[in-house]
Amino acid sequence: MQVILTVNGRERTAEVLPATTLLELLREHLGLRGTKCGCGNGECGACTVILDGEPVTSCLVFAAQCNGREVVTIEGLSGESGELDRIQRAFIETGAVQCGYCTPGMIMSAAALLSKKPHPSREEIAEALSGNLCRCTGYVKIVDAVEAASRTEE
Ligand code: FES
Ligand code: FES
Repeated sequence: MQVILTVNGRERTAEVLPATTLLELLREHLGLRGTKCGCGNGECGACTVILDGEPVTSCLVFAAQCNGREVVTIEGLSGESGELDRIQRAFIETGAVQCGYCTPGMIMSAAALLSKKPHPSREEIAEALSGNLCRCTGYVKIVDAVEAASRTEE
């Protein structure tokens, strides 16, 4: 079946199977490998993208459900010449990246939060990231990074 959707501001078309997930559509059909597959069953948050303004675990969304909808992935946050956005910069500057596998999903959850709530409390940041697991950092630096990004103008 054919799916037509907007990904990072650009209309994209793909032929998918009914069981194809949004994660597979992004990675395998569109070559957007920034979105990671951790568990494949909705438990780790590594595959988080923004769908019509809301963070979703893309391994649990069927591609067919995305027809006519708008998706933003980690690739969509950087500028046209590849410059990093404020959240990406804050993760690096704060030391919130170790192996990096959770990072795209963390950043997309943070981006969804900051688009709705520009100056969240640390508790609100932790709550917004509660579906994103990290085996490396202990989370404190990740919350520090999102807090730092919230203090930086876009
Ligand atoms: S890969 Fe989707 S939640 Fe883990
Ligand atoms: S930095 Fe390794 S899983 Fe988060």
